[in-house]
Amino acid sequence: MAKAMVLNLLSCMLMVSPSVASTIGVNWGVLSTHPLHPSFVVQMLKDNGIKNVKLFDADSWTVNTLAGTGIEVMLGIPNNQLKRLADKYSRAKDWVKENVTKHLHDGGVDIKYVAVGNEPFLKSYNGSFIKHTFPALQNIQKALDEADLGDKIKVTVPLNADVYESASDKPSDGKFRDDIKDLMTDIVKYLKSINSAFAVNIYPFLSLYQNPNFPKEFAFFDGGGNPVQDKNISYTNVFDANYDTLVWTLKKAGVPDLKIIVGEVGWPTDGDKNANLENAKKFYDGLLKKLASNKGTPLRPGGLDVYLFGLIDEDSKSIAPGNFERHWGIFTYDGKPKFPMDFTGKGNDKLMVPVKGIQYLESQWCVLKENLKDNSLVGQNMDYACSLGDCTSLTKGSSCSQLDERQSTSYAFNMYFQINDQSVEACDFQGLATITKTNASVGNCLFPIQIVSAGHSLNLASTVTSFVAMLLILFMFL
Ligand SMILES: *[C@@H]1O[C@H](CO)[C@@H](O)[C@H](O)[C@H]1NC(C)=O
Ligand SMILES: *[C@@H]1O[C@H](CO)[C@@H](O)[C@H](O)[C@H]1NC(C)=O
Ligand SMILES: *[C@@H]1O[C@H](CO)[C@@H](O)[C@H](O)[C@H]1NC(C)=O
Ligand SMILES: *[C@@H]1O[C@H](CO)[C@@H](O)[C@H](O)[C@H]1NC(C)=O
Repeated sequence: MAKAMVLNLLSCMLMVSPSVASTIGVNWGVLSTHPLHPSFVVQMLKDNGIKNVKLFDADSWTVNTLAGTGIEVMLGIPNNQLKRLADKYSRAKDWVKENVTKHLHDGGVDIKYVAVGNEPFLKSYNGSFIKHTFPALQNIQKALDEADLGDKIKVTVPLNADVYESASDKPSDGKFRDDIKDLMTDIVKYLKSINSAFAVNIYPFLSLYQNPNFPKEFAFFDGGGNPVQDKNISYTNVFDANYDTLVWTLKKAGVPDLKIIVGEVGWPTDGDKNANLENAKKFYDGLLKKLASNKGTPLRPGGLDVYLFGLIDEDSKSIAPGNFERHWGIFTYDGKPKFPMDFTGKGNDKLMVPVKGIQYLESQWCVLKENLKDNSLVGQNMDYACSLGDCTSLTKGSSCSQLDERQSTSYAFNMYFQINDQSVEACDFQGLATITKTNASVGNCLFPIQIVSAGHSLNLASTVTSFVAMLLILFMFL
């Protein structure tokens, strides 16, 4: 008897668990001055067992590199393409042909979604993409259907959580933002009709950043704060509260069971007082544990589908949203894991496998000269360096904020020098700067050495090829 019960219980568990397991993917953005070679990154994804990747475009070099890996891919279409694709169906057809169909040969790329636009309804875009997003979405799906791919590949729109709101902060008061309410209702009904999903970006870090009175504990998953009570449900973290606000919103829009994907979730490690390794680790520990438990949220128990943001730091992202923008990576610019993590959520922390094959530029730094007689030009040169190089680590409360004025100037000069591939002309600054072989890093503040970027290895490769070609020609004459 008891044995039969245990067996029953076991088979129940076996039947239930696979369908509700969470999936953890990563966002692979490439807004870097020195992007890593795609094949090095894909090897790293394989080394770490990462099986789902979300891209922000459909760059064929990157997408091709994912062929034959079994990694499931969400392609992206940037916002500035929406109008083109909305205006003419033939362009959507061409897009699908070139960026989807071409990759689907045997041993090709496992494309699962096409993300049409990226947070197109952000308030800060002043409505620029409101007219074009839905038609572009429909055109791409129509083109997928026509190519006989519609059953397997679906369109979606990754949206910022500011498309819905709750006046009371209670999830049950959730509804779409007034200015886009009708449009959002049409979009979610459409997504439901094609059996796709709502992709939402949820950022507890931003809740904390944007509101100085936000209870800090609520941004993490360890409880401890004052719960938000909503009817009979008690919310102890903003992730659940936010997700369930969306669940209520969808319910009110008439699609209570529309699948939800968390398109982006993560925590930055620099550029703000709350953006550091310790908080990021605390956030990811809680998130990964939650995902492993397959508990879901109070209103949507079960596994969650999430894509972490992001994979690698991106030093040319816009810092309009804040100085932390260039520090979202779980890996550094040179492909090293920043802190131990456990994707299985069991707390078996270990550093992930780094990106292999990185080549660095020479070990040399650009710094402010010592014993300058005239310092009057230092300020404007530092501003210039920071307008092009990444100085966000100098932000108050960040990894390099303890530097004095001299050191800060050197930091800025070095960042500019490195992004310019250590060109001698990039370390002049009207005669104020000099190149040194002495590591200029100060304490925890790293003065980085840039890597040989993917673009460069290509140039190198072509130089090598032409050299070989030249040799061949020489041999022909011998
Ligand atoms: C395919 O995607 C790439 C990269 O996102 C884009 O530049 C290109 O225009 C797309 N192709 C077509 C035919 O639209
Ligand atoms: C939106 O409007 C504001 C204020 O009018 C302006 O500063 C900003 O540049 C605009 N943004 C875009 C993306 O058009
Ligand atoms: C809350 O109440 C609803 C409806 O009365 C019920 O279905 C649900 O199970 C309750 N949830 C919890 C967490 O008690
Ligand atoms: C420079 O020093 C920092 C801090 O000690 C260290 O992390 C970094 O690896 C060093 N850089 C090089 C190129 O040796």
